[in-house]
Amino acid sequence: MDNRDFDTQRPRKKASRETIRKRQLIALCVIALLVLILILLIAKACAPSSKGGETTPTATTTTAVIITTTTDPALTTTVATTTTAPAEPENNSDFKLDKYVIELAVGGKDMPRVQEYPEGSGEWNENWSSSDENIATVDKWGNITGVAEGECTITLRDGLDTTQEVNIKVIVKGKSETASEEATTGATTEPQSADVGEAPAPSRINVAEAHYEGDTLIVNKTYSLPQSYDPGDLDPTCKEWFYKLANGAAKDGLNIYISSGYRSYDYQSQIYNNYVGIYGTETADTFSARPGNSEHQSGLAIDVNIIDDSFAGTPEAIWLAEHCWEYGFIIRYPENKQAITGYKYEPWHIRYVGSAISKQIHDMGGDTTLEELFGITSQYQN
Ligand code: DAL
Ligand code: ZN
Repeated sequence: MDNRDFDTQRPRKKASRETIRKRQLIALCVIALLVLILILLIAKACAPSSKGGETTPTATTTTAVIITTTTDPALTTTVATTTTAPAEPENNSDFKLDKYVIELAVGGKDMPRVQEYPEGSGEWNENWSSSDENIATVDKWGNITGVAEGECTITLRDGLDTTQEVNIKVIVKGKSETASEEATTGATTEPQSADVGEAPAPSRINVAEAHYEGDTLIVNKTYSLPQSYDPGDLDPTCKEWFYKLANGAAKDGLNIYISSGYRSYDYQSQIYNNYVGIYGTETADTFSARPGNSEHQSGLAIDVNIIDDSFAGTPEAIWLAEHCWEYGFIIRYPENKQAITGYKYEPWHIRYVGSAISKQIHDMGGDTTLEELFGITSQYQN
């Protein structure tokens, strides 16, 4: 007899109640297991991703959103949603900076320090740019200057590998120190040209180490100021006469503004050391003063507008060279005087000396230096 035939033909046994319950229980267990697996899969998919052992720092916040579906306040529904907070500027390059967000006042300056360069790049291949020069400018060394209130991005690229770039968010706040504002508001009523009067010599600095030639304070490579000398701002007379100068320029349709005024010993130290780190001492010494040797520490020196070679030959630079003496200022580091002053030409750096000296220098041709006028040196001892 064929067993298979026998089996198929055998009448089906009716399942007992106990067997049915067992089957139902097993089915429930299977469903519960499937639901559990599904929950685990969903949880895994929603978990923050991690790369190389580091968790991506994306900040998330939970916000309660009230949705009113009816005029009956009792039926107001509260739903939780998740929103992503604005991320910090991300650095996907091999550049490492000491800061990625900078806040500046209008006219204020800052310089992010590069702590690590991409491999194979060169420090000389730094390429700085601003997304909006009406908000903040940046020079080829990374000096950032606030121009007007707002926000923009300063980008540093590797000149050899432009895929290597890093962004710095710059927030500019506050009011401009330029006198053009005063000119438009009529805050000052200075005459237009040289008949503004005699700019007085600045007040004397009361520290034993300060070197004077007559009434003129000398700060150069030979004569320095002590670290303790810290006026905290521009000399008031210098500031007042700078505004007169800027008003004069504004009346001629030009905007001359302060890009860097008073600088403390410590700030100068940061600036100088940064340049030494990038260019070496010998080169840095040709355009940046060592701490204690900068006129900016005296509160009598101002860098105007664009602090780089591109300022030379601009209408503002030409006006400044022609007129600054009328307001008691001199161009402190004239062209072709590096062997005498110790510094390259800086058409943007003006020094307040008062009319007696500025006129004398103007009458001698305008590019006479304080070193030549007083027969003194400007040389470091080491
Ligand atoms: N750039 C001038 C020399 C200074 O650093 O004071
Ligand atoms: Zn300067």
